[in-house]
Amino acid sequence: MPQSLSPALSQKERESRTWQRGDYSISTDRSRLNVELIHYFLSNVSYWAAGRSRDVVERSIENSLPFGIYNGNDQVGFARIVTDYATFAWVADLFVLPEHRGRGLSKWLMEVIVTHPRLHGFRRWVLSTKDAHGLYERFGFIKLHRHERWMERPDPNLKESPDYWR
Ligand SMILES: CC(C)(COP(=O)(O)OP(=O)(O)OC[C@H]1O[C@@H](n2cnc3c(N)ncnc32)[C@H](O)[C@@H]1OP(=O)(O)O)[C@@H](O)C(=O)NCCC(=O)NCCS
Repeated sequence: MPQSLSPALSQKERESRTWQRGDYSISTDRSRLNVELIHYFLSNVSYWAAGRSRDVVERSIENSLPFGIYNGNDQVGFARIVTDYATFAWVADLFVLPEHRGRGLSKWLMEVIVTHPRLHGFRRWVLSTKDAHGLYERFGFIKLHRHERWMERPDPNLKESPDYWR
């Protein structure tokens, strides 16, 4: 049998978690996610993932730690964390539905994310945003330090939101 590289996650660490605030909750339970809504928002409303296919959305969620925001049972917000759980995390696809904005939900979600017990001790967190820098600055994000050391590899045939790269 191959030797495990690291101790297996305990059942407790694998369990989904829920945070409650009045009628709203945040959960990492994948079975609660409204994938249709997430796909609709990302593909039709967001500026960064316009046209993203359902298949890509599903795969992206499967391979991330997803967070849903709920009003009762209705999903009203989302974010997913791409991470190796050791050194690095990327905050991706964060949104709150328009009718639930301005109530502190994205600030609460970011607080839950940056204090999540499986998301700590990283050398670096990153994210990309067009205009929500002020939101993320509250949680310790800064503009790229030594940006000249960073590179990206955009897909030359990118179909998602070409505006984003301009
Ligand atoms: C950005 C977004 C997630 C904010 O959600 P929200 O739940 O309404 O935000 P909150 O009520 O928690 O407040 C956010 C705080 O960040 C600030 N902020 C900074 N940039 C902002 C922006 N572009 N949009 C909204 N708030 C912004 C707000 O002023 C507010 O601070 P305040 O409480 O001092 O007024 C939401 O507007 C959204 O989904 N927008 C479309 C998707 C998007 O742009 N996502 C970010 C991609 S990285």
